[in-house]
Amino acid sequence: MSFSSFFSHVQESPWYGAFLSPVLDQITHGSKVLDVGTATGKLIQMLVREKSTDCTGVDIDESMLKEARRKLDGVPSTLKQIDTQADFPFQDECFDHVCICNVLFNLDMKNRDRLLSKCHRVLKRNGKIVVLSPTGMGKLSILASRFVMRGNKTIGLWYLLTRKNARSWSTGNYLEDYCKSRQLTYARTVVFDGLGLVETLEKK
Ligand SMILES: C[S@@+](CC[C@H](N)C(=O)[O-])C[C@H]1O[C@@H](n2cnc3c(N)ncnc32)[C@H](O)[C@@H]1O
Repeated sequence: MSFSSFFSHVQESPWYGAFLSPVLDQITHGSKVLDVGTATGKLIQMLVREKSTDCTGVDIDESMLKEARRKLDGVPSTLKQIDTQADFPFQDECFDHVCICNVLFNLDMKNRDRLLSKCHRVLKRNGKIVVLSPTGMGKLSILASRFVMRGNKTIGLWYLLTRKNARSWSTGNYLEDYCKSRQLTYARTVVFDGLGLVETLEKK
């Protein structure tokens, strides 16, 4: 099994939909959304179905996008491969929301800043960047109770693989500090029984 097929399998586990779900609460019905690091397209699938959004997904990994095209067959959306070094192929201020789920906490400082500045550029005024990350914390009893649910065996693996970077991200103030020097308003909410963190950056 390739890594993209494996990741698609993870994204289809019931727990993963529940983990992504708080992001949808931040998204306005019918809005124009960019999903950065979309991988195999699970968030786009949920956004189109539940929020009737106009979605574009970008990723640096073509094998992930190939899997996303297969999964999103019939779901109206656009997928593009991008280069980390190049700017986004989109005009200034053309998206209402930019989602960055489970990407930033794994990047080094230089790549975080580069990615955030591209997201900021394409975000409309009064638009919102929504960042979801694991916390690497939360109650193990909750993790265990979700783990025993049918089809949820990957949650333990995900927790172990992300824990170190996730703890460092969730206990730091990276995005809050990033917002201070720019025209952005910051907010954070702990979600998914303490296992996830949603951070929002609103453009004034
Ligand atoms: C852990 S997956 C998360 C996928 C999806 N957003 C989710 O939450 O399920 C991270 C994805 O981000 C992509 N990625 C990493 N760095 C990126 C960058 N600088 N720009 C766009 N995508 C990136 C990877 O190729 C991978 O598909």
